[in-house]
Amino acid sequence: MNYLNSLEIIRPDDWHTHLREGDLLKCVINSYSRVIGKCIVMPNLKNPINKSSLGKEYKKEILSLINNKYFKPFLPCYLTDDIDSIDFENALKNEIFIGAKLYPINSTTNSSYGVSNIENIYPSLESLVKFNKPLLIHGEKISEDISIFDREKYFIDDQLIKIINDFPNLKIVLEHVSSEYGANFVAQTNNIYGTITPHHMILTKKDVFKENINAHHYCMPVVKEESDLVALRNYACSGNEKFFIGTDSAPHDLKQKENTNEIMPGIFSAPCSIELYTEIFDQENSLNNLEKFTSINGAKFYNLEVNKDKIKLLREKWKINQYTEYNNIKVKNFYGGNILNWRIEN
Ligand code: NCD
Ligand code: ZN
Repeated sequence: MNYLNSLEIIRPDDWHTHLREGDLLKCVINSYSRVIGKCIVMPNLKNPINKSSLGKEYKKEILSLINNKYFKPFLPCYLTDDIDSIDFENALKNEIFIGAKLYPINSTTNSSYGVSNIENIYPSLESLVKFNKPLLIHGEKISEDISIFDREKYFIDDQLIKIINDFPNLKIVLEHVSSEYGANFVAQTNNIYGTITPHHMILTKKDVFKENINAHHYCMPVVKEESDLVALRNYACSGNEKFFIGTDSAPHDLKQKENTNEIMPGIFSAPCSIELYTEIFDQENSLNNLEKFTSINGAKFYNLEVNKDKIKLLREKWKINQYTEYNNIKVKNFYGGNILNWRIEN
């Protein structure tokens, strides 16, 4: 592709976001709705969204803060061991839920209600197949004898392959693919798709695990080796339909990140996520495939219309703010204080 100074693409979607609730939602929502069209809002609130009434309420809370036509939130149901299957099926039928999310128990933020044994959710997986709705997976196996860097591989080998064998027609997204092993698995396996975050294509474990852990680069799944980063870049930039945008932008107040014994995992990239993806695709000489990744592949997967309008990106330097703030909430922006080479035209 020739050297470009500007680029128009169909408005991007974001198939994996965390918008939170209450004041934190109010703090971060504009960072998403400034540019994103359709988005999947993860249901891991303190009280997980695991029934239709909660889903409806949460969507209302989000929409009450939106004043544009293009931002459209979709919710997956948080699968718990004790889900009400009649309510779940009705919610799929009535499109209150776009699918369902599997969190292995204690794998990440607010996952203590997650699934302890995969077979406990088999009735829900049958419902997903019946309504042709996807399963979104946080693909990490948690066990004392498995290194934090190998959780994705063990999940694939010990649990995902079993799910695929038992439900060959189930459509699955392996969320925030973080390893070369995981990305190869997605590319080679029928009915499996993957989202890729910007930070897994920018950071490696050296950026997190220093003398002290860098809380603002700490997320689940943790970022890994250079070889993993390269594989993720190659797949994202290839135009391969199996991979699409999912920022996993996951804000936490500074109080949950600094001067605490329990650092919450999550990186808040929404203030510059599209700009970061653009920069990555530019570095890989693949700007011609950016639109497929950000705006087409995911919509196709979810059987939703591709957005009708476009956004314009300009090759212009700007500096991203350090923080996003509201009332007494302060969230560190990923890449805060750094210079970006692409800007979205207002
Ligand atoms: C997410 C969060 O904070 O909700 N954290 C993260 O590190 N990615 C949850 C998740 O997607 O794992
Ligand atoms: Zn997430």
